[in-house]
Amino acid sequence: MKVGILTGGGDCPGLNPAIRGVVYRGLDFGFEMVGIQEGWRGLVKGNYEPLGLSDVEEIIYQGGTMLGSSRTNPFKNDDDLNAVLANIKSAGFDAIVACGGEDTLGVAAKLYSKHGVPTVGVPKTMDNDLNNTDFTFGFDTAAGVGMEALDRLRDTARSHRRVMVLEVMGRHAGWVAAYVGLAGGADFVTLPEETLDVDAMCAHLMAVKARGKKYALVVASEGTILPALDPNAEKVVDAFGHVQLGDRNVGEYLADAIQEKTGWETRSAVVGHVHRGGSPTLFDRVLGMRVGVKAAELVQSGDFGKMAALRGTDVIGVDIVEATATLKVVPPAWLELLKTARK
Ligand code: F6P
Repeated sequence: MKVGILTGGGDCPGLNPAIRGVVYRGLDFGFEMVGIQEGWRGLVKGNYEPLGLSDVEEIIYQGGTMLGSSRTNPFKNDDDLNAVLANIKSAGFDAIVACGGEDTLGVAAKLYSKHGVPTVGVPKTMDNDLNNTDFTFGFDTAAGVGMEALDRLRDTARSHRRVMVLEVMGRHAGWVAAYVGLAGGADFVTLPEETLDVDAMCAHLMAVKARGKKYALVVASEGTILPALDPNAEKVVDAFGHVQLGDRNVGEYLADAIQEKTGWETRSAVVGHVHRGGSPTLFDRVLGMRVGVKAAELVQSGDFGKMAALRGTDVIGVDIVEATATLKVVPPAWLELLKTARK
């Protein structure tokens, strides 16, 4: 079988281990492995290269993706879609393994369900917001980077008796903010899952000060719903229609609001794309390898239209259409937990 692998959407640590996993298991089955460059764009343009053991052996500890990535959406216009279908045919691909989040895997799901393309999905995203899998690789590394940033901000916040606001990534789901806030002992966490009441947040911070604490830490998800921020903002969207959230400067906005409303000196810092770089953690390397290996096994057994997913301690195949139909957001029980964790 000739099997193409691609990585699409925002990169994250763990993609290289996943590519390695697909190739290693694919070679066991005698597959001819091919690396498709820069996500779905590689299939639009016909840009691919053979992938052998020596290409992937050393990449286990490397961040990013050796295949490159893009946010190309071939369903945006008929020409691109036709090019993808024609290239799959002319290259002789018997299967496409797509590593990605909701967008990239959404394309794989549609190619499978609407055009009969034999696709298998490998779930990745630092946002951890894919359904039907307990975790996605990339999240552990990215949230760890956020936690370390918060630890560092604690030192300087304590020295200067200030409030520090840390803005973290997380487009539609606040998993990164929730984990960073919990692990770093934040005094307040803001998430896309609930509209922020700025006055209530400020009142809480004043209560923190009143009980004698000399500094405070706020973790703000970039996707925090703050209607006041948005009305006149020019919205830049990607090929999948997502607004680029970094431009909203949520952290800076909240720092200004806190200082103005409480009179407590406040500064902000943004983690941004620093989340997405660096060597994957042990967890992300092992999960990446495991879901990569499972994807090759799904191809071998002809189980197309499936995504390799972590369920408990097992990696299994789940329906890719179902997995990409809705996002996994932070549920109410977690919002309660975050309230318990702030005093
Ligand atoms: O989806 C992953 C993510 O890192 C989001 O958390 C963030 O909003 C977005 O990608 C940023 O995308 P880009 O790299 O295109 O700016």
